[in-house]
Amino acid sequence: MELKIALLAGDGIGPEVIEQAVKVSDAVAKKFNHKITWVPALTGAAAIDAVGDPYPDETHDICASSDAVLFGAIGHPRFDNDPSAKVRPEQGLLKMRKKLGLFANVRPTFTFPSLIDKSPLKRERIEGTDLVFLRELTGGIYFGKKGREQNGDVAYDHCVYSKDEVRRLAKKGFEMAMTRGKKLCCVDKANVLETSRLWRETVQAMEKDYPEVEVSYEFVDAVAMRLVQWPNSYDVLITENLFGDILTDEASVISGSMGLMPSASVGSKVSLFEPIHGSYPQAAGKNIANPLATVLSAAMMFETGFGLNDEGAAIREVVNKSLSEGIVTEDLADGEKSYGTSEVGDWLAQNI
Ligand code: IPM
Ligand code: MN
Repeated sequence: MELKIALLAGDGIGPEVIEQAVKVSDAVAKKFNHKITWVPALTGAAAIDAVGDPYPDETHDICASSDAVLFGAIGHPRFDNDPSAKVRPEQGLLKMRKKLGLFANVRPTFTFPSLIDKSPLKRERIEGTDLVFLRELTGGIYFGKKGREQNGDVAYDHCVYSKDEVRRLAKKGFEMAMTRGKKLCCVDKANVLETSRLWRETVQAMEKDYPEVEVSYEFVDAVAMRLVQWPNSYDVLITENLFGDILTDEASVISGSMGLMPSASVGSKVSLFEPIHGSYPQAAGKNIANPLATVLSAAMMFETGFGLNDEGAAIREVVNKSLSEGIVTEDLADGEKSYGTSEVGDWLAQNI
């Protein structure tokens, strides 16, 4: 296949981890006879510095005309410490999600047998965990009306959802459940929030179309608890934007390191693949960041983006091999020998 992939490295450790995913993808392409053309584009703080916009039109045009987008991370501490900043790197990510129509964020959580004892949770709790969150990504409180009143002393963020937005996300959830364990959990706060009651009502009305799927409805606070008690009791979870943001960070800890979990953002057009971790500015430029979440995001890109399952499997296999042979960055080394970001990337590419 001839593939054109937009490459958005972004900020912090973004460029370093992206570089490793490119190496590994190129090695896979060579092995399976594909041709990848990478088209780099600016985003995040890097784009603000260069052109004053965290998601410039030129970057959008490159993304919209590509077969997929591979994304690193965005965010910079100089904005986090300045609540008055008018332009923020994160706005670039939100604008990109909205303009590319990426309404479903697929965030899997799974364990690696060789890392099971690295998790802060006990082995017997997490063994066999294989769940996936579908987080709604272009609606809710992230995109509602925001503002200040009374000389700036009162602030609000509106949470808005339509049945159509819920339906298209839930449809993906039901379809995904059918290809997996046939269980779907709708996570909400329907005992308090009107938007949650709309979610529940909409999902309930869809149940009859998927009679084989066992559907449950759970409150977000209870899910936050059960997720660390019995994560292996879940299969597919669907939820709104902010709940999904919070719960997927929590879930990422189950696997042993946040540096391991990939994600895909899908919509009707092009899809985007990115690690779920952030820009980790403290580690930027030090060659210590774990590249595996980005490398596994590239695996998801081959699988869900291009339907190339053998290529994705080849990446997963080499990642598992690196973990069991201890070719890991310091976050996974437990005080034993560790390797740099680029050394891990080189090893993976050579062993594909
Ligand atoms: C994520 C991030 C973003 C979000 C931030 C950087 C805007 O935390 O992708 O989970 O909240 O969606
Ligand atoms: Mn987040």
